[in-house]
Amino acid sequence: MDIVDIGQRLGSVAFELSSQPRVWLAFLFAAAAWLMSMPYLRFVGKKLPPGPPVWPVLGSLAYLGGELHHALWGLSKKYGDVMRVGLGQYTLIVVSSADIAEELMRKRDSEFCHRSGRTIQRSAAKYVGFDSMDIAFSEYNPHLRMLRKLCTSELFTLSRLHASAKVRTGELEVLLGNFRKYSEKGEAIEVREYFHSLTMNIMCLMMFGKRYYGEDVPVTAELNNFKSLIIDVFDNVGRLNLADLVWCMRPFDLQGINKKWKQIRGRCEKLFGLIIEEHRLRRIEGKTLKDDKDDFVDVLLSCQASDNLSDKAIIALLSNMVLGGTDTTATTLEWCMVEIVRNPLMMQRMQEEVDALVGKERGVEEADVAQLPYLTAFVKEIFRLHTPVPITLPRLNESASSLGGFYIPPECTIFVNTYAMAHDERYWDRPLEFNPDRFLGSNINLVGNDFQLVPFGSGRRKCVGIALGMTMVQRTLAALVHSFDFAPQPQASISESYLLVLRNSIPLKVEATPRLPAHVYHTTTL
Ligand code: HEM
Repeated sequence: MDIVDIGQRLGSVAFELSSQPRVWLAFLFAAAAWLMSMPYLRFVGKKLPPGPPVWPVLGSLAYLGGELHHALWGLSKKYGDVMRVGLGQYTLIVVSSADIAEELMRKRDSEFCHRSGRTIQRSAAKYVGFDSMDIAFSEYNPHLRMLRKLCTSELFTLSRLHASAKVRTGELEVLLGNFRKYSEKGEAIEVREYFHSLTMNIMCLMMFGKRYYGEDVPVTAELNNFKSLIIDVFDNVGRLNLADLVWCMRPFDLQGINKKWKQIRGRCEKLFGLIIEEHRLRRIEGKTLKDDKDDFVDVLLSCQASDNLSDKAIIALLSNMVLGGTDTTATTLEWCMVEIVRNPLMMQRMQEEVDALVGKERGVEEADVAQLPYLTAFVKEIFRLHTPVPITLPRLNESASSLGGFYIPPECTIFVNTYAMAHDERYWDRPLEFNPDRFLGSNINLVGNDFQLVPFGSGRRKCVGIALGMTMVQRTLAALVHSFDFAPQPQASISESYLLVLRNSIPLKVEATPRLPAHVYHTTTL
C-alpha cells in the first residue's frame, strides 16, 4: 500500500465518520476536555489541594447537590480543610478550618483580598457592582480603599451611629406597635415581613432619609418602583449563573439572569439617581441638614469633590448597603425568634436580665445592650449555629500563592465556609446544640479575631456594617423579649435554605403577649 493509498483510505474513513453526529459530539467533548485540562498542565509538579473530580465544562457541579454550604462541608470532610473544586471554568479553593482561615484572612490577607469580575461572580460584579465601582464586588484597589475609608471615617463612626439612634428607635416602636396590634386581635405574627420592613426602613432612612414600608406610607410611583425593585433584587441575587460558569454558554444567557440584572441595574440607576439629584438640589438651595442630621447621601455628596466620588460610585454604594445590610439583619432576627420559641427558659433568662437593668417603666435603649451578657451570648450562639452568611463573599488571588502548604494557582475564587467552622467538633463542644452558655465567660467575639467564628468575615474585606448590624440585632431582640412573652413552640422547625443568606425555609409565626404597662409602649403603629 503506498502513501497515496493510505491517504485516500484515511480520507474516506474521515468522510464516513464526519457524517455521524455522535462522532462530532465526541470530538467536541474531547476538544473541550483537552482545553479544560490545559490550565492544569501548567501545574504539573505543584502540590495542588485535593478535591472531587473536575469534569470538562461543568467542573465538580455533579458533587455539589443540595445546599451549597452543606455540600462543601461534606466534601471537606473527605478532602480536607483546603480543597479544590471546579465550578464550570473556575477553580474554587474552599477553606474549612480556623487555622487556614486565619492564614488566609490575616497572614496572607494582602494576597487574597480581591473580589471582582474574575471570580465566579462575573456578571454580578458588572451589574450589581456597577462595573466593580462598589465595595462588595470590587478589586482591592485605591477606589475600594477610598470607599471603605469613607465607611469607617464618615458613615459608620460611633458619633454618627449615636446620632442615628432615633431613626432606629422610631422604627422599633413601629415594630412593637404592630406586634401589639396582632396580640390584641389574638392573631399570630409572621415575623419575616416585619423584620424586613424594619431593616429596610432603617437603612433607607439612614442612607437617604426615606421610608417605604408601613401602612401610613403614601403609595406613590416611587414607592412601587422601590418595592418591586427590592423583590427583583432579592429573587435574583446569589443564583448560580451558567453564563458565568461555562464560557461556551456566555453568549446565550439561557437562564435570563444577565438580562434581568441589566434591567435591575438600570432601575437602580434611575431610582438612586433621582434621590441623589433631590439631595443635590437641597444642598444648592442651602437646605442641607446639619452634621448629625445629614444622611449618607448628604455626607457622600459633601465628599464628592475631595474624594473624586462619581454618582455611579454613590449609587453602587447605596445598592451594596441595601443588599448587605437588610436581609442579613432581618434573617438573623428571625433565627433569634426561632430559638426563643423553641427555648422558653432562655427567653425567660433574657427577660429577667433586661428587667433587672431597664425595669418595666421604660423601653430598652441602645446603650443598655452592652450590659446584657446573657443576651449577648444568645446572639453569639445565633450567629454560630445559624451562620446568616454561611460562605463568605468570594475572594481572589491575583498571583500564585499558598495555603496550608498547598500551591494555590493565580486567579482562584476563594470561599471560606464559615458555617463548617462554626459547626466543627474541633472547636465546639456538642456543636449542633443551641447553647448560649458556651459564650458566658468566654472572650470570643464576632469581629474577626476568633477564626472559628467569623460571621462578618475578617481582614481587609470584612463586613463594613458590623457595628450597625450588631446594634440592630441586639437592641431589637432586647426590646422584643422585654415587651412580649412569646408562646413556646418547642417543635418549631429548622430547615435551612441558602441563597447568599441562610434562611429558615419555613417562615416563622409567633404569638406575642404584651408584658409591660400600656403607657411604656409608644402607640405608633405606622
Ligand atoms: C447581621 C448582619 C450582617 C452580617 C451577618 C454580614 C455579613 C457579612 C459577611 C460575611 C461579609 C463578607 C466578609 C468577607 O468576605 O470576609 C460582609 C461584607 C459586607 N457587608 Fe455585611 N453583614 C451584615 C450587616 C451589614 C450591614 C448592616 C451593612 C451595611 C450597612 C453591610 C455591608 C457589607 C458590605 C458593603 C460588605 C462588603 C465588604 C467588602 O467586600 O470589602 N453588612 N458582610
